[in-house]
Amino acid sequence: MKYSIWTFGCQMNESDSQRIATILEKQNYKPVRRDEEADLIIVNACSVRQSAIDRIYGKVKYFNQLKIKNSKLKIILTGCVLDQDKEKMAEIFDQIIDISKINKLPVLLDSKIKIDKSLENYFHIKPKYESKIEAYVPIMTGCNNFCSYCVVPYTRGREISRPASEIINEITNLVKNGYKKITLLGQNVNSYKNKEIDFLNLIKLINNIPGNFWFSFLTNHPKDMSDELIMVLPNLEKFCHCVHLPLQSGNNKILKEMNRHYTCSQYLSLVQKIRKALPDVSLSTDIIVGFPGETKKQFSDTVGIIKKAKFDMAYIAGYSPRSQTTAYKLKDNVPREEKIKRQKALNQILAKTALSNNKKYIGKVIEALVKGKSKKKGMLYGETKTLKNLEFKSNKNIVGKFVKIKITKVASWSIYGELV
Ligand code: SAH
Ligand code: SF4
Ligand code: F3S
Repeated sequence: MKYSIWTFGCQMNESDSQRIATILEKQNYKPVRRDEEADLIIVNACSVRQSAIDRIYGKVKYFNQLKIKNSKLKIILTGCVLDQDKEKMAEIFDQIIDISKINKLPVLLDSKIKIDKSLENYFHIKPKYESKIEAYVPIMTGCNNFCSYCVVPYTRGREISRPASEIINEITNLVKNGYKKITLLGQNVNSYKNKEIDFLNLIKLINNIPGNFWFSFLTNHPKDMSDELIMVLPNLEKFCHCVHLPLQSGNNKILKEMNRHYTCSQYLSLVQKIRKALPDVSLSTDIIVGFPGETKKQFSDTVGIIKKAKFDMAYIAGYSPRSQTTAYKLKDNVPREEKIKRQKALNQILAKTALSNNKKYIGKVIEALVKGKSKKKGMLYGETKTLKNLEFKSNKNIVGKFVKIKITKVASWSIYGELV
């Protein structure tokens, strides 16, 4: 039997898909690249914005064509799906499986199968990591924050933190197998808490794992970004100096309506503290433009804070009304064209701040992790410890290694240099 997986959404979904691959391969399913060859297609959905779910609806015709060619083909939906979509999706898919029950997939496919012991606990399933250099390690799932626009608490349920020993074992094994970069995943990593161990304790334990590796984490909620955490970061030599701190809006009234529990000045004060503790830090954020009722003036507040915070990267999205959320009751009254205009305006500022931030690297020799061959001939690509994309000339066999690079040229989204 052959399978393919379609993954939509965030790194958490990518990580889930890696576990789904393991579950299927334990039942002797083989991966295929072409859907035409598959007997089973798993669609791992994201519902964060309507556009993500529309991409799945857009595939209905294609799925039907595949089914005409292969009458035995099964197409299963899992991941983040809202109740409203589940009803409609039930007509398109052979089955819808809750992501929290994905370890039961073999039984759902064939009721005679007994589930392998190693699949009983979702987090004990060893993911089929896509890379031999870097890996995602979920430390918690779910969210308790109920930001008024967001589906995650409804699709992923409440926060559950994995036992620290399990996380440490997974990372220790990865490092022993040569992995160089670990990304800890969670919707709100800094509220991690399992028994006596909180996020601060956890990252100290991770930093103490022997071996030459880097780690980073996402995503953080500003309300849980404590001074204690910021103070500890510079002492963790394996921590990548990159902090993702979603702002969402630069206007206090909108932030309140978003149920974010911080003000703009509190956010900017966090940025200041982070930059003081980690002067070379890369800062990234998430922004929503066109939240219900967002006026031009309120949007200009977001422009102001984006300029002040000087982000290296930002994921800027137009507000998308989502059923089940509390903001769904508000009128989505900022026209689509206006949302696009606001998105573009912020992206233009971002390209400038990112470029200006990158100029500090020119002439410096910095450590980088080599990740693979670039599309450009004779070039390799990698990442700096501040998680900047990097390209340099080399024909050496150094993929997966840490190297020293002298930076010669910078752009907004990439920096360039020479191997030293
Ligand atoms: N836990 C993360 C966010 C996960 S969702 C956090 O708190 O930052 C990822 C991003 O999608 C959010 O940060 C937000 O910017 C965006 N997003 C979530 N719901 C949205 C919606 N209804 N419309 C537009 N963007 C949305
Ligand atoms: Fe969504 Fe807010 Fe939770 Fe992030 S913190 S997942 S935006 S509810
Ligand atoms: Fe999407 Fe679910 Fe991630 S809604 S952003 S895949 S947690």
